[in-house]
Amino acid sequence: MHLYSTNSHTLQTTFLHAAMQGLAGDGGLWMPTALPRLPQSFFEELPRLSMADMAVQVMQAYIGDEIPAQDLEPLVRDAFNFDAPLVRVSENIYALELFHGPTLAFKDFGARFMARAMSYARSVQGVQADSRGDLCVLVATSGDTGSAVAHGFWNVKGIRVVILYPQGKVSDVQEKQLTTMGGNITAIEVQGTFDDCQALVKTAFQDAELAKKIALTSANSINIARLLPQSLYYFRAVAQLSDDARKDVVFCTPSGNFGNLTGGLFAQRLGLPVKKFLAATNRNDTFVQYLASGEYYAKPSVETPSNAMDVGNPSNFARIQALYGGNLEAMRRDIAGATISDAETLETVARVEKTSGYLMCPHTAVGYLATERFLQTPEMAGATGVVLATAHPAKFGTVIEPALGKPVTLPERLQDYVRKEKHATLLSNNYDQLKAFLLTSQG
Ligand SMILES: Cc1ncc(COP(=O)(O)O)c(C=O)c1O
Repeated sequence: MHLYSTNSHTLQTTFLHAAMQGLAGDGGLWMPTALPRLPQSFFEELPRLSMADMAVQVMQAYIGDEIPAQDLEPLVRDAFNFDAPLVRVSENIYALELFHGPTLAFKDFGARFMARAMSYARSVQGVQADSRGDLCVLVATSGDTGSAVAHGFWNVKGIRVVILYPQGKVSDVQEKQLTTMGGNITAIEVQGTFDDCQALVKTAFQDAELAKKIALTSANSINIARLLPQSLYYFRAVAQLSDDARKDVVFCTPSGNFGNLTGGLFAQRLGLPVKKFLAATNRNDTFVQYLASGEYYAKPSVETPSNAMDVGNPSNFARIQALYGGNLEAMRRDIAGATISDAETLETVARVEKTSGYLMCPHTAVGYLATERFLQTPEMAGATGVVLATAHPAKFGTVIEPALGKPVTLPERLQDYVRKEKHATLLSNNYDQLKAFLLTSQG
């Protein structure tokens, strides 16, 4: 698989290098130079393929022989060992539940694959003989990303993960998810803010002396190895629809950094029939405004109930632009946009729970209301809506309980975490302490 940087078409690399590197050297995002077209036989077989069987075929098409089939297949099966069920919520709208992985959010798809791809890359690039020892993935988290990354890398050979989180500023469940894994995962509780955690990580990456002793890497969300798997569940949704519903599908993607939507656009290029993508945002609607006006104005983010989508300058915008070669009309043919207010988000969570019994997280609610409205437009008559349900509602209990007027029960898997004992190393926000810790705790 060949990729180019969105900042310069001439800067190119291959998949495993891009996975290890994250961002391109010129600060651009890695984009495939070409997307493969899946054969008609794949689509005929699709309704009968399991998540893992489908994933093997799609990932093989993307990556080609850079990872030989006998290595790629077990890697993919191990990464995608959970499903994305499609649940009917109303007559013509389905929720594609992406929260059946270990951390109950869609990020599990990307994080699990990236971890295995990095481990593989390290073994074939001969870095297992690196005298600096295990690859160390250093991440700062304000909650969710850290646990998806930690779970993704858990038990992955030759890699250790050090997660920094701000003391007292993540929810109890999130803290337990970060601090109870053990094995190759270490949690550091920082006496400071999330910004302090990020600054510590940044300083570590710029520390030339540390780089001589530890092979450090990041698990950035714009990594192409996290993005490719985000196209898989669009195929899985279509596989679960009836022959009739499959003809006219509208995918609604609740969006922040637009990685999820980019995954869908890739799936369409691979041949998946999609009538329209609907990008649903909260008040952080830079992209929706861009679709309407053709002007892109990055804005500072504002806080909303769907906080994982509070992004004023979406990082994957450059990839979407590149995919359409900057052709706004072509983009508009494939993608529509919708903005949902804070009040509408919470009302939707409460209303849908009351009328259909289906409980959704605030991010999914943004997508659900946008879909209800969109399907009422004359051009969408007869279409079927599929909303990406990006996280389990219980992860956002404090946000949705006041709107629901009742408590949300934690699923068994989250209760298991809460019962476990926390293991974290407490450090100040002073870099020297972190450096000393990294050097002495080296695996
Ligand atoms: C629960 C949830 N929904 C939606 C999104 C938005 O996804 P994206 O950033 O790929 O647009 C995120 C991103 O972190 C998320 O955590």
